[in-house]
Amino acid sequence: MQKIESLAKRRGFIYPGSDIYGGLANSWDFGPLGVALKNNIRQEWWKWFVESREDVFGIDPAVIMNTKVWESSGHLKEFSDPLVEDKKTNERYRLDHLLEKEGINVSEMSEQDMVEKAQDTNLKSPKGNELAQPKQFNLMFKTNLGPIENDDSTVYLRPEIAQAMFVNFKNVFTTMRARLPFGIAACGKAFRNEITPGNYIYRTREFDLMEFEYFVQEKEWEKHFKYWLGQMHKWLEHCGINKKNLENYETPSSKLAHYSKRTVDIQYNFPFGTKELYGLAYRTDFDLRNHMEHSGEDLNYTDPNTNEKIVPHVIEPSFGLERTLLCVLLDVYAEDEQRIVIKFPRWMAPIKVAVFPLLQNDKKLVKHAREIFESILPCYVAQYDESGAIGRRYRRHDEIGTPLCITIDHDTLKDKSVTLRDRDSMKQIRVKIDDLLDTLGMYFDGKEFKKLVS
Ligand code: GAP
Repeated sequence: MQKIESLAKRRGFIYPGSDIYGGLANSWDFGPLGVALKNNIRQEWWKWFVESREDVFGIDPAVIMNTKVWESSGHLKEFSDPLVEDKKTNERYRLDHLLEKEGINVSEMSEQDMVEKAQDTNLKSPKGNELAQPKQFNLMFKTNLGPIENDDSTVYLRPEIAQAMFVNFKNVFTTMRARLPFGIAACGKAFRNEITPGNYIYRTREFDLMEFEYFVQEKEWEKHFKYWLGQMHKWLEHCGINKKNLENYETPSSKLAHYSKRTVDIQYNFPFGTKELYGLAYRTDFDLRNHMEHSGEDLNYTDPNTNEKIVPHVIEPSFGLERTLLCVLLDVYAEDEQRIVIKFPRWMAPIKVAVFPLLQNDKKLVKHAREIFESILPCYVAQYDESGAIGRRYRRHDEIGTPLCITIDHDTLKDKSVTLRDRDSMKQIRVKIDDLLDTLGMYFDGKEFKKLVS
């Protein structure tokens, strides 16, 4: 983790938030390479789960919603974690996290079990002080809409996007003439006032979610649940994650979220423990029914074949963007005596191609290299780099995961060819400049490097 964190800072992926003011606890800013990485993952996710399917519709809903939404969804009452306070320092901790730190396995424990365990073991704060009785702490950030601060203007920053999908259920199915089963997807920020954020970007108070609600007939929920679990694993494979590092965790009923009847977490073997990466929940008709009751709006779906009115049930695959990014960084980071290399899948790499003139002070080479660089730039995110020995430039790009480097040398001027060097195999091939864009096209379509030339 330390290596990843320092590389991410050094090479412009992730900086500490509010850095020049000494930072802000557990807040992170994504730098030029970090934002490119996030955008690539998000766009690919959208392509994979929305654009390449005819049964999922994307929306981009407002972050701040009517407070009645959170009353109806149960978040105002239920979206909380058990908190314990150090009696001396007033510092607050999550009870389950403190028990875990003591080596107690809480995965099967209900909240009541945890409270009892804390009493039985005479649990102390990390500073060794007495703890007060556990309390429930609501994780939603509260703010006010408009200039007047009173109860009527209180609004919340969304802790999940899901509610916007339920609220827009009728809008989408009528305007898009959708038929069951179908999904509504969205990506965007979510906010949770976590009691104990930490482990770098793993648990933060603002984060990016990518999720969808898949509406199905009740009798078919198990079939769809199984299907989407398989699709989530396929997505992770596409992200380059080694499946050896993943496992499914069946959430015991005592620990299910208030809306869920079954949840399977896909866990990743992080350096700080095997922890949730993504979640897949069967939310039943809990949300639509609640919104129907509280809004008075008819959210029934009428089956066009049978004319039967039903409230659809929901399967919800939910993906944290920063957790995806952290997990990819950890999984594809490699080092040996020669180099550090981040083996991002080609589609994910923030910089796709680097272009080098062999020598910085050879005007002809530089001119040629710039021309080639500028011809590539409209098609691929590319970087021009002329400083330092060629080996050092390769290393620099290995460290940020650039899949291909192109070198323009003295032979280029004679044979109108350039050298392509592949990040993973470190092999090199010569390619005619006239064929360069076609070759890059094949490479980024996934063709094996050594098969690019016969
Ligand atoms: N709508 C369902 C939902 O929000 P969740 O399991 O609470 O379910 C979904 O969150 C995903 O969001 C998680 O699997 C994780 O990837 C990510 N996530 C949750 N809390 C997070 C946090 N504090 N920081 C970063 N990512 C988080």
